[in-house]
Amino acid sequence: MTSEPTPEQAITRIQAAFGEPHGDYRTLHAKGAFYEGTFVGTAEAAKRCRALHLQGEEVPVLVRWSNGGGRFAADGAQDVRGMAVSFKLPDGTSTDLLGQTAPRFPVRTPEAFVQMVEAAASPVKLVGFLARHPSALGPLVANGRAKALIAPKSYAEATYYPVHAYRWTAPDGTESWARYVFRPSGAAAARLPDKFSGRDRLREEILARLAAGPARYTVEVQVAGTGDDPHDPMSVWRSTDVFDAGTLTVTGPTADPEENGGLVVFDPTRVVDGIGLSDDPILRYRAGAYSESVTRRVG
Ligand code: HEM
Repeated sequence: MTSEPTPEQAITRIQAAFGEPHGDYRTLHAKGAFYEGTFVGTAEAAKRCRALHLQGEEVPVLVRWSNGGGRFAADGAQDVRGMAVSFKLPDGTSTDLLGQTAPRFPVRTPEAFVQMVEAAASPVKLVGFLARHPSALGPLVANGRAKALIAPKSYAEATYYPVHAYRWTAPDGTESWARYVFRPSGAAAARLPDKFSGRDRLREEILARLAAGPARYTVEVQVAGTGDDPHDPMSVWRSTDVFDAGTLTVTGPTADPEENGGLVVFDPTRVVDGIGLSDDPILRYRAGAYSESVTRRVG
């Protein structure tokens, strides 16, 4: 069995893979910005999960759209895009979901994830990575077919996958496993006639789009059926129990909460009453890795 890197080792290796000076910004998804909006859950979500933000009352959200890689990459570069959402509950707590544009996660251990990031920078390393992790090929091909790495016309037109399953507890105590997708609704129709083509074209486009009106997403949930594994980020679920859990509305940019020494950490293990974590080894690893990245970016 391959041993897993400590969070310190993982962050050092990921930062080395980008070959950029690493200052006060995120180790991954360094280029991005903050936005604000709201979320309203559906009656079906309230029936299946007792978490406060799913009870139908509008709650505020903080969103960060990002590119997956380096701080200095052009927005048109081949890369995944991220959409991190923090739901602010009426009791003052919050819970986060971090989505990215790849529908399939290609690895199931932290060491394999770090090797994949290292391999992404070089075709030779990629061949070696695939030789060591042949099971990654299918998901990588599927992500290619889904155009997950092709820069979208707009952050608002991409579909985002938070990957991990979370345990939902219903008001009557019934438990189920839920996986989310953020699906844009009406985004193509809201496309602007203007052309955006510079290095920061996604940021420029989204600012212009939001000035004209909000960007909306359906938060789709798939509930695991028999044989669907909630603890494996690579698993493909067969369940047809899929429903609309609510609408996420991004209304506009927000003042950068990190500008004057503030700190924002979107953490996929930050959950609230009614929501629990799976034993997915990638999910469990992330909090430690993010915390190491935070330690380095705040000095
Ligand atoms: C072992 C696997 C992973 C590692 C080691 C890892 C590592 C990191 C690190 C170090 C950061 C920067 C954190 C910060 O400084 O605040 C980050 C950000 C991010 N990661 Fe991951 N990640 C992993 C898996 C994933 C997965 C599975 C997803 C999505 C499904 C994801 C989506 C994101 C997003 C969207 C951000 C940006 C958050 C923001 O905007 O603040 N990551 N990741």
